Amino acid sequence: MTARSIPGTTDRRIDALLTLLAENAMIVISGAKIAREIGVTRSTVWRWIEKLRALGVKAKGHPRKGYQIERVPDVLAPNLLRRRLHDIPFGKRIYHFFKVDSTNNVALRLGHEGEPHGALVIAEEQTAGRGRLGRPWHSEKTSGIYMTVLLRPPISPVHAPLVTLLAGLAAYDAVVEQTGLRPDLRWPNDLLLNGKKFCGILTEMHAEPDRVNFVIVGIGIDVNHAKMPDELASIATSLRMETGRTHSRLELVARLLRCLDRYYNQFLREGSGPILARFAETSSYARGKRVRISAAAESYTGVTAGLDASGLLRVERDDGRVELVLSGDVTEAD
Ligand code: BTN
Repeated sequence: MTARSIPGTTDRRIDALLTLLAENAMIVISGAKIAREIGVTRSTVWRWIEKLRALGVKAKGHPRKGYQIERVPDVLAPNLLRRRLHDIPFGKRIYHFFKVDSTNNVALRLGHEGEPHGALVIAEEQTAGRGRLGRPWHSEKTSGIYMTVLLRPPISPVHAPLVTLLAGLAAYDAVVEQTGLRPDLRWPNDLLLNGKKFCGILTEMHAEPDRVNFVIVGIGIDVNHAKMPDELASIATSLRMETGRTHSRLELVARLLRCLDRYYNQFLREGSGPILARFAETSSYARGKRVRISAAAESYTGVTAGLDASGLLRVERDDGRVELVLSGDVTEAD
């Protein structure tokens, strides 16, 4: 089943062009051959190559001979992604955008329109990326990963917070596998390196009282940002800033979706136990961390005391009362 065509998604022929270039890295291919293979004119090939160059694709033009790509481009093109995901449901239907307001907005629409489980919306740039608690999400062109997965879990809404947790665990495992770094996981699913955030997840749900209709999991990862804007510099970082080298977004997305598939199936098979245990293992925030909780109604400090069975954070307040945190901001307190 292939993805429907929806306004603004990347032209399939650009996808084909990227695949052709990736498959022929280092080889000079003539503009006429490319045009023939993907079914456009030579001037369109030239125009599209210019567009890809603006996204960092290193394509050298050789007068009268053609184009030569210097390395496999790190564009999240559906074809390149699909072949890394052939055996899992994520990646069967991919909606790729060069630019979109928010991948969560698109996924919400698709969810309401009956799109099946596993659809993936992914963008090179977002103009109105959304974070938790109504905040904006900085979504600089081609530096980060901006993607949303549509899930239709056969669960009751009270268990939905576990989907939020397992998405964070999937991102955690993917980053560890690819970079060897050891991030921290801040409840419910922020990933931090040296105390600064580089990955955030916005889960949104459409449900009836007793059953989830769909959940969308929007994941943003700061991968190859050389620096953060001034207003975020004290709280945000990127994998490149932490390691001093760039990382393949394509490989990281593929790893993340594999990890997500694994945790999701484990959750459906075995319930919350393994998810809660894994969270306790990887997050310094799970237990014994002094935190400030800033929720809509109030802000207080206390010490974390594990998660409850549905994944909510237990916090023992300074006055001894125990709270269950449903949403709100968790920060380390002194
Ligand atoms: C957070 O505040 O920590 C959550 C950030 C989530 C950002 C991602 S980027 C892809 C998806 N589309 C959005 O508009 N938001 C999420």
